[in-house]
Amino acid sequence: MSAATPEFSGLKGRFFAWFLTSPLRRVLEWRMGKPDQRILELLALRGDELVLDAGCGSGFHTLLVAERLTTGRVTAVDVSTEMLARLRTLAAKRGLAQRVSVALGDNLALDLPDATFDRSVSVAVWHHLSDPQRACAELARTLKPGGHAVVVDLAIAPSEKAVRGLEGHDRAFGPAEMRQVMERAALVDVTVETIGRWVVGVGHKAAAD
Ligand SMILES: C[S@@+](CC[C@H](N)C(=O)[O-])C[C@H]1O[C@@H](n2cnc3c(N)ncnc32)[C@H](O)[C@@H]1O
Repeated sequence: MSAATPEFSGLKGRFFAWFLTSPLRRVLEWRMGKPDQRILELLALRGDELVLDAGCGSGFHTLLVAERLTTGRVTAVDVSTEMLARLRTLAAKRGLAQRVSVALGDNLALDLPDATFDRSVSVAVWHHLSDPQRACAELARTLKPGGHAVVVDLAIAPSEKAVRGLEGHDRAFGPAEMRQVMERAALVDVTVETIGRWVVGVGHKAAAD
């Protein structure tokens, strides 16, 4: 998947942009489980952090994070202009626009400086990517020393994909693979858990000496 040809563009992009931040998101939660409260716990926000939502979609988690920030800000990156358009609208409607920076970009080559963010979150994105290892390296690069990333993706065995209508996705992350990707990106103190059909990984960037 390249930034030039986003999967979620045109009508499909507009439909999923709406779906992912609509009441129908519950369908996904019924089928897959609901990791959102745990994601917030793992992010452990004080309110003053700079947070990256990498592959933000229409901003379901961006907005959950923004609601918990006081002086902090969340940068929301996605390759889909349709997703970002709905996020901008929702952030404005909810009075959160001042706390949200929306950026068109590619998780495989973030146009963001090193050591920028206190926290990163990336939910249901890695199975869309040609190179999740590179995406993880980008999360690690853009984290400040001492910061941490929370990554959530599908914990679905290849044999189950047809049953679940996920044939198009050639990636899924068991707990061991999530850990391996994070550790190869030099993230430390990695923990991995599963919630329903999701795998949730947390990795820290080592604090500076
Ligand atoms: C299933 S959606 C999840 C969106 C959001 N994180 C959520 O949980 O609602 C996957 C998102 O990843 C985005 N995406 C796919 N490839 C990407 C890439 N290379 N860089 C940034 N975003 C990407 C898609 O445009 C889409 O918005």
